Amino acid sequence: MILVGLDVGTTKVTAVIGELSPDGILDVIGEGTVPSQGLRRGVVTNLERTTESIRQAIFQAERVAGVKAERVWVGVAGAHVRSVTSHGLAAIRRGQQITPADVERAIEQAKAYPFEGDYELIHALPLDFRVDGQEGIRDPIGMAGVRLEVDVHLVAGGKGPLTNLRKAVENAGLEVEGLVLQAYASGLAVLSPEELSMTVMLVDIGGGTTDVAVFRQGRLAHSAVIPLGGDHVSQDIAKLLQIPVEEAERVAKKYGAALPELADPELVLEVSQEGTTQISYQAPELARIIRPRLREILHLARQSVDEALGPLEITVGKVILTGGGSMVRGLEELARKQFNLPVRMGKPLGVQGLTDVVAAPTHATAVGLVRHAASLALQTPSARGLRPARKPSPGKPQPGSEGAASGLWERIKGMFKNFF
Ligand SMILES: Nc1ncnc2c1ncn2[C@@H]1O[C@H](COP(=O)(O)OP(=O)(O)OP(=O)(O)O)[C@@H](O)[C@H]1O
Ligand SMILES: [Mg+2]
Repeated sequence: MILVGLDVGTTKVTAVIGELSPDGILDVIGEGTVPSQGLRRGVVTNLERTTESIRQAIFQAERVAGVKAERVWVGVAGAHVRSVTSHGLAAIRRGQQITPADVERAIEQAKAYPFEGDYELIHALPLDFRVDGQEGIRDPIGMAGVRLEVDVHLVAGGKGPLTNLRKAVENAGLEVEGLVLQAYASGLAVLSPEELSMTVMLVDIGGGTTDVAVFRQGRLAHSAVIPLGGDHVSQDIAKLLQIPVEEAERVAKKYGAALPELADPELVLEVSQEGTTQISYQAPELARIIRPRLREILHLARQSVDEALGPLEITVGKVILTGGGSMVRGLEELARKQFNLPVRMGKPLGVQGLTDVVAAPTHATAVGLVRHAASLALQTPSARGLRPARKPSPGKPQPGSEGAASGLWERIKGMFKNFF
């Protein structure tokens, strides 16, 4: 089965094609990355240019994979994204066990959260259940009780930006299979089994935005989009050194460091100013320009968690950094100092195939999209054509068939298994 992830970022568009075998092994068989055109801070601002970038990234990935991409999973970010943890309640009839339908009812109620403005729900991810006030229940089905409560993490996007994103993808001749929050996808790609059993914060520093996600035992407990990223670092350098932004980005990638003490004091970098004049700068000087912006980004990440869940050091056990902006030398150390927590760089884990191409912090989102698609496909194999579908015997609903009671059950069971 062919699965395609499409990360339409502010800096680059990446397509990853995965092949899922019936025994659940996910092979990356194609990848394509092109510079992104037509987006600002994660939002499509020029439809035609975005479509062209998508077309090129998909074309590259298809050429490597030798297969055609038809349906794609698309990552969503941008300042229009809203996240909130909402509460749902369902009364259970006395003497009855909690059924999947009760769970669904409680989740539906939580989903009715009134987002201000014109919003479309992207995710409704159950976090924790309570039965008759008893907290911390992961799977309430089959339990006895009269009152079922659930906390559901809702992620919604502005109707306009989501419509434009879909259009850009469809105009490239592709069908949108689903939308996934970028930071959620990145987490699915990089978290280790150990990290899935604790509370961790993922910070994906992209070009135009920084996406924050807190995973509690593998489930999304908080998410936020900060409208700052690596491009702002480049803009700071460009402004202060009076050089073009492209030159500033090149210099940042080559010589940049998040801490002046990590920059080589002997290193003198040559930068081209407008009109090809060469100017010399010392590397620590450059680090002093870079550091404040990165500190600001990390500070805003911390603040969003503090406000939603309580003090970061108490609620979170570890921080994982992904995205191109996290590749600045010394950022891990800066983050460790600032958060007072263990920090590591996140690279996509647990995939086979073109691992050398995709095992970079910049590819976490695209690989995570394919991972997400794979976990959904594995829950409902027959419905998604992973295994040859057997003919349904009359009167007996097939597992995974939408609408049938057992289908609902499968879906709910899947939610627990795959924490989405
Ligand atoms: N080695 C590097 N050192 C420092 N910065 C880097 C490096 N590589 C990439 N960057 C910066 O990372 C940013 C791009 O990151 P990434 O590819 O994750 O963004 P994106 O996914 O396209 O954007 P977004 O997620 O914001 O939509 C750019 O600002 C770029 O300058
Ligand atoms: Mg990104």
